[in-house]
Parts: sequence; C-alpha cells; structure tokens
Amino acid sequence: MSRTVAGAARGVVSLAVVALCSFVVQDALSAEPPKVALLREYWQEVAVVIFVFGAQTVTILALLQQRRARRRAELDAAKRRADLTRASRIATVGELSASIAHEVGQPLGAILSNVDAADLMMQSGDPSDAEIREILSDVRRDALRAHDVIVRLRALLQKQAITYAPVAFDAVLERATSLVHPEARRRGIVLHTVFATREARVLADQVQVQQVLLNLCINAMDAMENAEQKDRELTVETRLLDDGVELVVADRGVGIGNGDVEPLFEAFYTTKERGTGLGLSIVRSIADAHRGSISARPRPGGGAEFVLWLPHINMAR
Ligand SMILES: Nc1ncnc2c1ncn2[C@@H]1O[C@H](COP(=O)(O)OP(=O)(O)OP(=O)(O)O)[C@@H](O)[C@H]1O
Ligand SMILES: [Mg+2]
Repeated sequence: MSRTVAGAARGVVSLAVVALCSFVVQDALSAEPPKVALLREYWQEVAVVIFVFGAQTVTILALLQQRRARRRAELDAAKRRADLTRASRIATVGELSASIAHEVGQPLGAILSNVDAADLMMQSGDPSDAEIREILSDVRRDALRAHDVIVRLRALLQKQAITYAPVAFDAVLERATSLVHPEARRRGIVLHTVFATREARVLADQVQVQQVLLNLCINAMDAMENAEQKDRELTVETRLLDDGVELVVADRGVGIGNGDVEPLFEAFYTTKERGTGLGLSIVRSIADAHRGSISARPRPGGGAEFVLWLPHINMAR
C-alpha cells in the first residue's frame, strides 16, 4: 500500500515538473505561431488538472493508510488490554483457590457422608422411605451448592469476548461476593454486605464488574492482615445515586494515608512482597471502559474506602 502511494506521488511530482518546465520555456518560445501556442497552453492546463487530481488522490490514499494503521494499533492495544485483564482475573481467582477448594470440598464431603448413611440403611434391610427421601434432598442441595461455585468460577475464568449488556448491578456483585465469603471466613474477617441499588441496571461486562469487586476485596483483606480481631471487618455496599450506582468496599486495615492516592492506581505500584501492582490499574481501566470512575479515600475511624461509580442504564452510552 505504502509503495502504491509512493509510486503515485512520484508520478504526480514528474507531471508537476513537466508542467513547470513548460511554463518556464513559454516566454522563450513566444515567437511561436498562435496555433502552436494554443496547443501548448492546452497541454499545460491538462498537466495542471492531472497534477491537482493526482495530488488529491495521493493525499486521500495516505490518509486512508494512516487511518488503517491507527485502527490496527488500537485493536492490538485493546486485545493486549483484554488479555492482561483476563490474566489478572485468573491470578485473582488463584488467590482465592484455598477457600474455593474448601467451598467445593465441603458439600462433596457432606454428599459422601449422606451416601454412606443411605448405604447403611439399605444394608439394615428396612430403610424408611421418608429418611431416604430426606437424604436424597440433602444430597441434591449439596450437589447444587458445589455446582453453583463451579459455574461462578467458570464464568470468571472463561475466555470470552467483552460484552456490554444491561445487567442488574446488585445481582452481578452478589454472585461475586459469594466467592469472597469463604475467603473472608478463612482469614477470620467478618464480611458485611448491603445491596441497595434497588435493581438498578448498568450497561456492563458483568465478569469485569465482578473482577473489580474481587480485586478490591482481596486488597481490603490484605490490608487487614495484621489487624486486631475487633477490626477485621470488610464492608461491601452498593448505593443508588441520581446519576448512577456506587460500589463501596471499606476496610479497617493499614489505611492509605491522607495524601495523593493516584500512585495506588499506577501499574506496578505495590507494597506487597508478592504483589504485581496491577490490580488497581486494571480496576481503573475497567471503570474507564464502562465510562465510570474509581476513587479511594481514607475511612473515618481508620482503614480505606474504594468507590466504583458507574452510570446507570439511563445515563450510559
Ligand atoms: N484497601 C487498601 N488499604 C491499604 N492499601 C491498599 C488497599 N488497596 C490497595 N492498597 C495499596 O495499593 C497498592 C496497589 O494495589 P494493587 O491491587 O494495584 O496491587 P497489589 O495488591 O499490590 O498487587 P496484586 O493486586 O497484583 O496482588 C497495594 O500494594 C497497597 O499498597
Ligand atoms: Mg491487589
């Protein structure tokens, strides 16, 4: 393509040179008969028209080529961003793996005990129908519980295109909170949840919104690693505002000081021995992609509060 543009440009320049030369020698040849002079004038005009037309074509081709290159670069950047976001999501889920294993293992253990109990009853030769039915209903409940965790995990880990769709803000976050609960329990942290957006909907990629919640909650729990038992409290709250919805994740951890909080959102900023420092920068890019915002502030009484704001469906793009 660029070779075509260069070739065309060379052609136009040659024509221009020809036209220019004929202008220069025009005076010298003014003694020519009028017919020849008329013919020369005609060809000069033709050369000018070809030059203008050619120059326009070259400019348009160059602009088109530039636009295509820019679009390709934008697509590449978007793909790299999506890959990084997904890689970070997988790492986040990895951090929750101990509690998730427990969350799946517990109902499976209960199913095993119930199956053993039913087996013993059958061996006794006189199993009561009511008891067997009760055992079966317990087995179904536990199997559904384990299945539910797997379904939620799979949704987070699947490689899928980013899709913006109208979703209920609270419902999406409640589903992700169910993965935070066992981790909070494991770390001896009490998790309070208040979902209060009254089914307000946002135009969002639900997996990315869940990723924001998981990142903020893990950070909050990390910040309370050395907190006293009475302070080990994590609050996840949603609020309905006039212009949108808010997710507030608040902790009683080490806090973020009273100064500038912007460095926290910069890529690779971390104070953790094994942190990548990508969590909050990805949270910010997700907020931006949703035409929302993310902010942080010290929490009155100690700790930090991170606030995600998203426009609700009437305000969204
Ligand atoms: N709730 C919080 N309380 C206090 N400091 C926080 C809190 N959340 C984040 N920070 C600070 O911001 C830094 C950057 O957080 P970010 O999530 O981007 O990376 P990280 O948690 O260090 O690493 P990763 O997310 O890869 O595990 C953290 O290292 C920590 O110093
Ligand atoms: Mg983090």
